[in-house]
Amino acid sequence: MDYKEHWNQAYEGKVTEQLGWYEDISQPSLDLIKECNIEKHARIINIGAGTSTLTDSLMDDGFSNIIVTDISNSALEILRKRLSHYKNQPQFIHDDLTNPTKLQKIEPVDLWHDRAVLHFLTKEEERSTYFNLVKSITKIGSYVILAEFELEKGAEKCCNLNVYRYTSKMLGEYLGDDFELIKDFPYTFFNPRKDTRAYIYTLFKRKS
Ligand SMILES: C[S@@+](CC[C@H](N)C(=O)[O-])C[C@H]1O[C@@H](n2cnc3c(N)ncnc32)[C@H](O)[C@@H]1O
Repeated sequence: MDYKEHWNQAYEGKVTEQLGWYEDISQPSLDLIKECNIEKHARIINIGAGTSTLTDSLMDDGFSNIIVTDISNSALEILRKRLSHYKNQPQFIHDDLTNPTKLQKIEPVDLWHDRAVLHFLTKEEERSTYFNLVKSITKIGSYVILAEFELEKGAEKCCNLNVYRYTSKMLGEYLGDDFELIKDFPYTFFNPRKDTRAYIYTLFKRKS
């Protein structure tokens, strides 16, 4: 399976507002980011950002040091065009979380945000690569937001791909003892077709 091609096709020629995972406003993410109380120049990485409006909202809020990354160069190009009127441009990084080549080399970040990305990593070795990356590019004192399909109620597929679902305990175990769970809550997302998708939202803080 060529995941880069799969995700490019998911975005090419599509209307962003009709994507199955589209949120008009990424409110639960924005609420958790507010709780972090980080500086406006904090380094924020939006993992598997796609064409999410979270980046627009963060820039509107004055955050000036944002990195967006995705396996789909088509999604990044749509996002780049949409954000082109902002003075402080985000950094765009085209990379694959299951085989990161560029992300490993970036300066550590103050906030890692992932909504609906990690759950596509269905193999243990992919998850291991993902969590090693989290540990290698987050600062001590940084925050990690993971919002994924929930173990019991979450959908089994998205975008024609199988997913691996989570509880906050599972996410905490993958992150390990260096990370402390600050907050978690279930969240029901209504997609543009008005179908429900059960997520678990988690906020962790890196202690050591
Ligand atoms: C369901 S979409 C969610 C997009 C965005 N986070 C949001 O909330 O709207 C999943 C995103 O993860 C990206 N993705 C999937 N597998 C990836 C991988 N191995 N590395 C990087 N990005 C990946 C896809 O291209 C897509 O943009």
